[in-house]
Amino acid sequence: MAANKKLLFLPGDGIGPEVMGQVRKVIDWLDNRRHVSFDLDEDLVGGAAIDTHGTSLTDATLDKAMNVDAVLLGAVGGPKWDNVARDIRPEAGLLTLRKDMDLFANLRPANCLPAMAEASSLKEDLVSGLDILIVRESTGGAYFGQPKMIEDIEGGQRAVDTQVYTTAEIERVCRVAFDLAGKRNGKLHSVEKANVMETGVLWRQVATEIGKEFPEIELEHMYADNCAMQLVRAPKQFDVIVTDNLFGDILSDCAAMLTGSLGMLPSATLSGADQSGRRRAMYEPVHGSAPDIAGEDKANPLATILSFAMMLRYSFGDGDNADLIEGAVKNTLARGIRTGDIMQDGMELVSCSQMGQALTEELDKLAV
Ligand code: IPM
Ligand code: MG
Repeated sequence: MAANKKLLFLPGDGIGPEVMGQVRKVIDWLDNRRHVSFDLDEDLVGGAAIDTHGTSLTDATLDKAMNVDAVLLGAVGGPKWDNVARDIRPEAGLLTLRKDMDLFANLRPANCLPAMAEASSLKEDLVSGLDILIVRESTGGAYFGQPKMIEDIEGGQRAVDTQVYTTAEIERVCRVAFDLAGKRNGKLHSVEKANVMETGVLWRQVATEIGKEFPEIELEHMYADNCAMQLVRAPKQFDVIVTDNLFGDILSDCAAMLTGSLGMLPSATLSGADQSGRRRAMYEPVHGSAPDIAGEDKANPLATILSFAMMLRYSFGDGDNADLIEGAVKNTLARGIRTGDIMQDGMELVSCSQMGQALTEELDKLAV
């Protein structure tokens, strides 16, 4: 029998630990009902790691992350750590994981489940059935470019971030995006600001070049500001969007909200494949640590559970169990079960742990 896959859980801060607890229920369910077992390790990241180790990511934790089959991260950050030095901030731990594991392709799907269309801030017919995938470059650009600093100058200070991309960095993320577009509806929007930024000019040029390798994919270039506008005007025109780190951060929050709740959206961040085809991977919900409701058993665990389903699909080629989990999420929502963030009139308000419980009940029904 093949060895169990190794997982590292990094629950992090705020609602991270409670949403992660619901994934454990799904893992136990898979173990009992589907004979799919994992070797699970857990460690600290973000503010939780600062409190214990004085830094948001220790070398030992990074080392573990590099050596497991996949990482599942909850959320990092919170007001408690707002004033710590930037290089050890909770967010720095997350960024170091992305950078040092070379997780350059951040996949952020935004699907609007039929049961959720009413909860969107847009008109129901604009978003019902929406299915977009944002591929955000996640190890380059303004987040990591050097120099990055604040210096004193006469009369004040001067702050610098550097937006920088190489051909190779753009190529590899575009290839992932074209490839995924080929597995979906064959349409790719490459998004930048070539009208004002040199990185945008290079981005457009490289995307066009890579496009020649994928003649069956319809490639369209779009400026990032227009893309933000089009996302709220007519989101269904998009299939896959590929864009840089900073634009991707912003546009993915925008796309997320179209679906009715940030609490519903999973993500995957992947490295390139090594010679044996193995990719390092980290899965995390798109939402943050929601410190205002942390520890109150109110959070929506579905984004994290769906992130785990993405892990099964992308890291372990287990589409069957991923389908089961996604199906159970749909059915739970169709039953009218809602956490506070997606609560609507006439629905049943449940806690985070009750949502996890309801989901395993739906899994039971689907698996008979
Ligand atoms: C995200 C978050 C992070 C980012 C923060 C927490 C550093 O907003 O994953 O979208 O900006 O990448
Ligand atoms: Mg963000």
